[in-house]
Amino acid sequence: MGLNDSSPGAMRNGRGLSDQWAETVVVRPRTTERHITVHKRLVLGFALSILTLIIVTALAVVLSVRFEDCGSRDVATGESGSRGSTKLNGSKGERGDEEGVQPWRNLRLPGTLRPRHYDLRIAVYMDNFTFSGEVSIELECINATRFIVLHSDRLEVDRVSVTAEGGANGRPANRPGGGAMRIHRHFPHPTTQMHVVVLHRELKPLRVYRLNVSFEAAIEDELLGFFRSSYTLHREKRFLALTQFSPIHARKAFPCFDEPVYKATFSVALRHDARYAALSNMPEERRVLEEDASVTTRFSRTPRMSTYYLAWAVCNFTFRETTSDTGVTVSERTTLGAL
Ligand SMILES: *[C@@H]1O[C@H](CO)[C@@H](O)[C@H](O)[C@H]1NC(C)=O
Ligand SMILES: *[C@@H]1O[C@H](CO)[C@@H](O)[C@H](O)[C@H]1NC(C)=O
Ligand SMILES: *[C@@H]1O[C@H](CO)[C@@H](O)[C@H](O)[C@H]1NC(C)=O
Ligand SMILES: *[C@@H]1O[C@H](CO)[C@@H](O)[C@H](O)[C@H]1NC(C)=O
Ligand SMILES: *[C@@H]1O[C@H](CO)[C@@H](O)[C@H](O)[C@H]1NC(C)=O
Repeated sequence: MGLNDSSPGAMRNGRGLSDQWAETVVVRPRTTERHITVHKRLVLGFALSILTLIIVTALAVVLSVRFEDCGSRDVATGESGSRGSTKLNGSKGERGDEEGVQPWRNLRLPGTLRPRHYDLRIAVYMDNFTFSGEVSIELECINATRFIVLHSDRLEVDRVSVTAEGGANGRPANRPGGGAMRIHRHFPHPTTQMHVVVLHRELKPLRVYRLNVSFEAAIEDELLGFFRSSYTLHREKRFLALTQFSPIHARKAFPCFDEPVYKATFSVALRHDARYAALSNMPEERRVLEEDASVTTRFSRTPRMSTYYLAWAVCNFTFRETTSDTGVTVSERTTLGAL
């Protein structure tokens, strides 16, 4: 009861207090209403701004997702094209490349394969300054790989084939023609001056493979790769085509592992107009007259060496030759009409 008594008392006190206040408050009842409406507006405004913020954020998120989608689609299409020019890293990796490894993006060759011998046949057309070639590269596999990555610059690569040759000890393939490896696709990667051959199955360590590539290109008048030059003799303009491979221009003349560490032997054969002579590092082995009256000059195999040491020329120079006492043939060649 005491409790009951005390609370009405307090109520009374409270009422008393509010009554006292009431006298002052009641005088201006509108102000409180206005205060309340002001508060309501504030709260409403606040809620509205938060809502706008949420909507804007949501919009931004949706848009950015769309952008990302577009971006990755662009990268994907850029990569699936035969000439991948995009330098961006695709988030989903290259098509047909489950591991996401793209060794052709690296400036250095992957080191999984080692060339042992190059069989190179070049047909030189001096009338329209173009050349076409076929290179057959004997490769030793060092580390298992599905990619053959080698250098190629400004070359139009045509046909590519890969065959398994047998063991590294030179054991011949027991099934001739049966050793062909299926090629998934091949494409140039111009930014690193490489050409990539993607195989269906891995090349196995310690085994030897043969990569054949046919290609063509122009004989440019820049002093790089396989280029042309001219001189005047008896008031007549004459042309010659020759090479400058050092340091990294062999890749402009034929697809190769164009780093000095990849030493190999080279057999060169040049097919050319019969009015010209062909020269290379090694002595001429034989000269064959072709059906179309052109000549194929074949040179003997070079010692094991780096690609930039290789050289050849197709020219109409006059020359003088002599054999030294020790049996070395010394030949002097010049543009001059008479020596
Ligand atoms: C692309 O990927 C390589 C290795 O995967 C990385 O080193 C490089 O920084 C990446 N580049 C960009 C632009 O993301
Ligand atoms: C250049 O000439 C050769 C033979 O004369 C021909 O086979 C080749 O297609 C020609 N190349 C171009 C690009 O016209
Ligand atoms: C590859 O080239 C070599 C040398 O020219 C040739 O003997 C061989 O038959 C070629 N292989 C294929 C599959 O074309
Ligand atoms: C390649 O194989 C050699 C052994 O043959 C090994 O030492 C090396 O780590 C391998 N490299 C790569 C990149 O797998
Ligand atoms: C090669 O040189 C000889 C002798 O100077 C000349 O008669 C001939 O026309 C030249 N041929 C070409 C294709 O320049």
